[in-house]
Amino acid sequence: MDVAALRQSWAQFSMAGPEAAKYFYATLFLIAPETRSMFPTNMQYQQDKLLAALGHIITHVDDERELTAFAQRLGADHRRFRGEDRQGRSVPLAEWHYIWVGQALLSTLERFLGPRWTPALRADWATAYETVARMMLTGAAEAERTSPPYWEAEVLATQRRRADVCVFTVRPNYLCDYLPGQSLPVQVPALRTWRYLSPANAPRPDGTMEFHVRAAGRFSTHLVRKLQVGDQLLLGLPVGTALSSFNRSPQLPLLLVAGGTGLAPLRAVAEAVQQGPGRPTTLVVGGKTPDDLYDDRALRELAAMPPAGAWQSGGGGGWLRYVPTVETGWQWQGAVGTAADAAVRLGPWRDAEVLVCGSPEMTQATLSALAASGVAPDRILVESYDHSLYPPLVNAAASASPDVTWMGAQ
Ligand code: HEM
Repeated sequence: MDVAALRQSWAQFSMAGPEAAKYFYATLFLIAPETRSMFPTNMQYQQDKLLAALGHIITHVDDERELTAFAQRLGADHRRFRGEDRQGRSVPLAEWHYIWVGQALLSTLERFLGPRWTPALRADWATAYETVARMMLTGAAEAERTSPPYWEAEVLATQRRRADVCVFTVRPNYLCDYLPGQSLPVQVPALRTWRYLSPANAPRPDGTMEFHVRAAGRFSTHLVRKLQVGDQLLLGLPVGTALSSFNRSPQLPLLLVAGGTGLAPLRAVAEAVQQGPGRPTTLVVGGKTPDDLYDDRALRELAAMPPAGAWQSGGGGGWLRYVPTVETGWQWQGAVGTAADAAVRLGPWRDAEVLVCGSPEMTQATLSALAASGVAPDRILVESYDHSLYPPLVNAAASASPDVTWMGAQ
């Protein structure tokens, strides 16, 4: 396989941008109309994800370890997408789905590469695609032994904490193993779209999970306005390694800086710390006004609890310093300013592990303020749930360049 030719053709092809992704899906739906119902009506996000995933595959086409890990995980995760057989019954993705996607891909490359699409290049692309498709199918088959394709989760409770913020609890039908700080793809069956949300709690013995959502788009607005006790949601495989690596230096103090519903994964991390022997932890939660601090009560309760390990040996609380901060607040008694201002004031944090989560603007401002105060970028962990990105690819970008990544609010 001529790897250089593959990469070069990919670079040329990428210049076509969203047009190429549109053409790809139009071709796929023409070759196999039965695949249309598998995808959401609005294809905008999926188009970006597919191109990004293909780019990652081509970049690592000669790195067997990375390619295998990425493709097998993607295949395991694709088990949540179901096809339909001729009788309209739901079936798992099979080899024929990959053949259709492969045909659509080769036609798209041919269309956009024009005279540069030679028989030799076609053969290389066909081999590369087949290798990846086989890895995805192997990943799916192997994952079948350890996890269901998706979890069905029943909504046990919902709470509107503000006009646009809801907190809800679900119980999956099987125990869903995730790490504090990770996120999971969540689907409301009526909408057919998947979005990543982070459980706001450390794993519990009864398997229940709490999610925090702010109405920002169609999916989150549906959850905030329409979700009811008894509704069923689907959950996919948990993902994310950045925030869940909070224990890589357990001897260091921990600084957690949250904005908006970006609090969720950081509260899960704080709960996990409480369940262990304890570790000096500061949790700064920023809002524009006190009304934004929608989880204040739960956080005060958590801060009052002693660490489970220390409690068993007769020790006490004080492990969590909870610092709510607002930019403006009538008769507000607490810290004033952004989360970044408050965090820096409480420093120095040169010898701390730092986790940041909030809107892109909040995250970027916090990273810059912490870096300016002397915190090394490799001490700061962030993760993105931008809807147009496939999270494992964001992590790859983050580890390459931790100071320019960010995480979207949920
Ligand atoms: C090399 C082959 C493939 C690659 C690189 C690929 C890549 C991706 C990626 C990165 C996502 C986004 C996942 C997420 O955000 O969680 C995705 C979603 C999806 N893929 Fe694939 N995929 C491939 C093959 C297939 C095949 C064969 C099918 C079935 C015909 C398929 C159906 C879907 C569906 C239905 C979604 C969800 C769309 C949505 O709800 O937004 N994929 N794919």
